[in-house]
Amino acid sequence: MTIQKVGVIGCGLMGHGIVQVAAQGGFQVVAVETEQRFLDAGLARIDKSLAKLGEKLVKDGKASAEDAQKNAQQTRARIQGSLERRSLADCDLIIEAIVEDLPTKEKLFAELGGLAKSTAIFASNTSSFPISEMGRASGRPARMVGLHFFNPVQLMKLVEVVRTDATDPAVFAAAKAFGEAVGKKPVACKDTPGFVVNRLLVPYMGQALEMLERGDASAEDIDTAMKYGCGYPMGPIELTDYVGLDTTLFILRGWVKRFPNEPAFKIPAVLERKVKEGKLGRKSGEGFYKWEGDKRL
Ligand code: CAA
Ligand code: NAD
Repeated sequence: MTIQKVGVIGCGLMGHGIVQVAAQGGFQVVAVETEQRFLDAGLARIDKSLAKLGEKLVKDGKASAEDAQKNAQQTRARIQGSLERRSLADCDLIIEAIVEDLPTKEKLFAELGGLAKSTAIFASNTSSFPISEMGRASGRPARMVGLHFFNPVQLMKLVEVVRTDATDPAVFAAAKAFGEAVGKKPVACKDTPGFVVNRLLVPYMGQALEMLERGDASAEDIDTAMKYGCGYPMGPIELTDYVGLDTTLFILRGWVKRFPNEPAFKIPAVLERKVKEGKLGRKSGEGFYKWEGDKRL
């Protein structure tokens, strides 16, 4: 099963990174968005990230400035932006990275089932929803997998490759090989809520927010404690800002609805409040902390 051309739908926080690593891996990539301004923003982030990675190569003596620039230009030339889902028709692999809302994702996969070529592999980057339900919506459950990348995609080395009971083993193998080809360490996961990482990580983030709400410690102290006490690169409150408060809330809402008796799945009131106020974290400039672009103030 050969993958040459990859489609990525959604060019936000995650989608732009997936587009970039796929292009860096040598694949032709089509990035599809709903509006030109979102597409432009995603492509601008890719340009910025490629420039940063190029600077680092030069600084570390791994490439000359000329080679680094040429390399970035070649990567960028493999990326095509589009507002038309039809431009995905000849893709070998289509990865969905849109908003964490199951009905919206199912609608998209139903549409893809009607337009993609018969050999295409469908993948979702969902943080929390069942891959099997998207496979069913597409009408091609055997060709559906989860490809769950981590934020920031350019730097995080893991990809969870999720198979359902219906996934064709050859499709799973091709998706895993794609993960390796884009420089990631793939792990195999079953189609369980949150797969491996989020089943552990999101309840932990929720616990930290409850601790903040109770006034047990300040956001800074909770983050400092987990950084210096456990060696995590980032504390749980800053990480919630980094992931997006909206995405974190959508994950927990979906789980609470499906598994009301699971005590680890609980929505902290402070998360609901902040999202209602439009404080979505790094992406909106304010969450639990204030941000300017990618920098925490
Ligand atoms: N592209 C290119 N370069 C980038 C970059 C990007 N997107 N982001 C950062 N960099 C560069 C920086 O410019 C910096 O370069 P220099 O060394 O030349 O200065 C370098 O990478 C390191 O960045 P930082 O200075 O910001 O340093 P850091 O050491 O704090 O690393 C981090 C940042 C990798 C994000 C680290 O803090 C970290 O690992 N945080 C935890 C992230 C995490 O847990 N992610 C998972 C979230 S959960 C998820 O993704 C699943 C889900 O479904 C919700
Ligand atoms: P985001 O809000 O940053 O980006 C979503 C993008 O999708 C937006 O640019 C939006 O315009 C676009 N979009 C929405 N509906 C669309 C449609 N129908 N067609 C095309 N584009 C559409 O969100 P994100 O953080 O990138 O999350 C995307 C997915 O990745 C979600 O399923 C999320 O759970 C998952 N995820 C997020 C993280 C994280 O840390 N944020 C990590 C891993 C996985």
